[in-house]
This record gives sequence, C-alpha cells and structure tokens, in this order.
Amino acid sequence: MQVTSGMIGQGFYNDNSAPQLSAISYVLPWLDTAIDELPLDDQTTTIGLVDFGCSEGANSVEVLKRLIAAVRKTSGLPIQTIHSDLPTNDFSELFLRLSPKEGGGFGDDNVFSAAVGGSMFDQLLPPNSVHFATTFNAIGFLSKRPLDQLPGYILPNGPSKQRGVGQVTTPEKKVFADQANSDLQDFVRARAGEIVPGGKLLIQVFGAGEEYRTCDGLYDVLNDAVLMAVDQGMISRGAYDQYYQPVYFRTLDELTSPFKNQDSEVSDLFTLERSEVYEVPVPFVQEYEKTGDINTYAAAYTNFFRAFTEAVLRLNFAENPLLDALVEFVFERSEQLVRQYPERYEFHYVAVAALLTRNDDL
Ligand SMILES: C[S@@+](CC[C@H](N)C(=O)[O-])C[C@H]1O[C@@H](n2cnc3c(N)ncnc32)[C@H](O)[C@@H]1O
Repeated sequence: MQVTSGMIGQGFYNDNSAPQLSAISYVLPWLDTAIDELPLDDQTTTIGLVDFGCSEGANSVEVLKRLIAAVRKTSGLPIQTIHSDLPTNDFSELFLRLSPKEGGGFGDDNVFSAAVGGSMFDQLLPPNSVHFATTFNAIGFLSKRPLDQLPGYILPNGPSKQRGVGQVTTPEKKVFADQANSDLQDFVRARAGEIVPGGKLLIQVFGAGEEYRTCDGLYDVLNDAVLMAVDQGMISRGAYDQYYQPVYFRTLDELTSPFKNQDSEVSDLFTLERSEVYEVPVPFVQEYEKTGDINTYAAAYTNFFRAFTEAVLRLNFAENPLLDALVEFVFERSEQLVRQYPERYEFHYVAVAALLTRNDDL
C-alpha cells in the first residue's frame, strides 16, 4: 500500500508551511559555512544542488536561493538545481516559481532548474552529479507501513504526556524505530551514489526532544477527532485500528547514531560534521500569544497539520463511501477541539539536523 501521495497541493501546503520554514531557517547558516568546503577543482564543470522532499516548493526554493548565493561568493560555474519529491506530489506551483517568464527563478542565467519525481529512498540521480544535497521536514515519512494496524493510537510515537489518550506498546514502537532507521540508511546509501567525494548532505527533520516532540498536540487532536468519527458511526472501530499516520519523530541520537557507530555501513560513506536538536518559534503560536485570537489560531493550527495528514487519511479510508464527508468532519472537529481546549493541544516545533561530508570511497 502506498504510504502517502504527498501534501495537499494547489497552493495549500505552500500557504500553511510557515512553521516548517522557521525550522529550515534555523539551519540555513550551516549551509553557508559548508559551501566553502565544497570540493571544486578544474575538473568541475557543473555544480549540482538538490533538495529532497520539496513539496510545492515555496520553502525548497528558499533553500536553493541560499545555497546559490553561498556558491556565488566563490564560483561562477553553471549550477544545476533539482527539487525532488514523490511522483504524486503536486509540482505545478514549483514550476511556476522556477519560471523566469512567470516572474520566478533564481535571477541567475547560469542556474538551470529541474524537478525529479521519485522516492528519496532510491537513488534518483547519476553518480558524482551532486555537490550539496538537503532534505527538510521530510525523512520522517516512512517508506512503508511496517505494521498492518496500530489499534491504540494514530501515530507510532504515541500520544503526548500531556494528553495521554491512547497508547502504543513498546514492541510496536520498536518496529517503527527500526523502520525509521532502515529508511535513514537507505536514504544515505542512495545519496552516496549521487554525491561527489567531499560533497555535503544536510538531513533535517521534525523530531523529538527531551521535553517536547513535534507530534505532541497535533496528533492528539487528530486522534480525538477521528475517534469522534468512530462514535458517530462514520468509521468502524476495526477501520480505526488499521488507520495510522506512518510518520516517525526521531531523537537526535536516532538520527546520528548510524554515523557514529563504526560498525554501521553508512559511517563509511559519510562523516558527521555537526548535529543538533533544537526548537523554533511557531508563527501561528506567536500570533496567538500576541492577539489572543482563538479562531485564527485554531484555523491556522488545523490547516498546518491538515496539509500533511489529509492525504494519508484519504488513502486509509479510500473505500469509505462517504470519504469527503468524513475528511471534512475530521478537520472541522479538529478545529473545534483546538478552539475549545487550546491548552490541551499545545504545540512545539522540535527538529533534529545533521550535516555530513561524503567520504572518499575506500
Ligand atoms: C512536510 S513536507 C516538507 C516540504 C518541504 N521540504 C518543507 O520543509 O517545507 C514533506 C514532503 O516529503 C515528501 N515525501 C514523503 N515521502 C517521500 C519519499 N519517500 N520520497 C520523496 N519525498 C517524500 C512529501 O511528499 C512532502 O512533500
């Protein structure tokens, strides 16, 4: 079964992904320093820059702008930029954003843009064609559903400590942690097939810190709303048991240990340069703290998580004859719950990031 078809398209993800941009912005300065170390020499004819999991592209284009500006401080070589996502992703907004004739592009005649559809867990580009690869807020989407059902909750990481409604058992959690680890290693092996020796890889993703996890609050409200649909008879308990969002929120240790462990294959492929777990301010939370406008907060919060959860919900309940009504019900109820009980669904954006250098092949 396909895990997700991507985010909601037609501009919806772009319009509701300011929190992700906030998390991206925190690590952008890492790119500036890393670019100075790129292995460019007389043999280099084109510099390859790639972002994996680009979605509709608003945030991805910001990343590429930053990388291009950093490259241009030292090199005028032609640059090939590539934005990649699942083949089912809505690339149309991205193409408009990249087209100089539509007022987009990078304002540099020596930059050539392209998009590639495919899974980031596969090699998608030729050997030695990439100098810098990035991925933001994406590698937590698992490549597959490792369990047929997760009856206690709708997310592998389980409910927040604060809400505590539902449960995921320790053996279930281990299955998902192992899947996330195997996905990470597949991703890294695939990039090793593309990145030049000395080239860079930045892996950033929503995660789990000591106090907060990015899944807290938002999956609690979604779980509560889906259970309301069960109570209403819109979905059966058995269908609920089979539904979960195949997304995993990693700790920093889970992201970095494959590179630190000398026995792991990927530690031969890349050297870990720096890594960090961090929390960033969330624009819709800051706005709410300033204005106290609960309606605007509940709408922005719900649209934010609807953008990345709706496709999975639709795939899981594709057989339901009242699918559209079910989807509307779930997100309307979610918004109502946030409006009624904002303190119950508190949201924090925690991310983990690792900057790596491609080793010479042994
Ligand atoms: C939350 S969005 C992040 C978009 C953008 N990088 C940002 O930070 O705003 C996650 C993206 O990962 C993509 N994605 C999920 N699984 C993927 C896979 N196996 N291969 C490529 N992209 C994938 C989704 O389609 C989606 O566009």
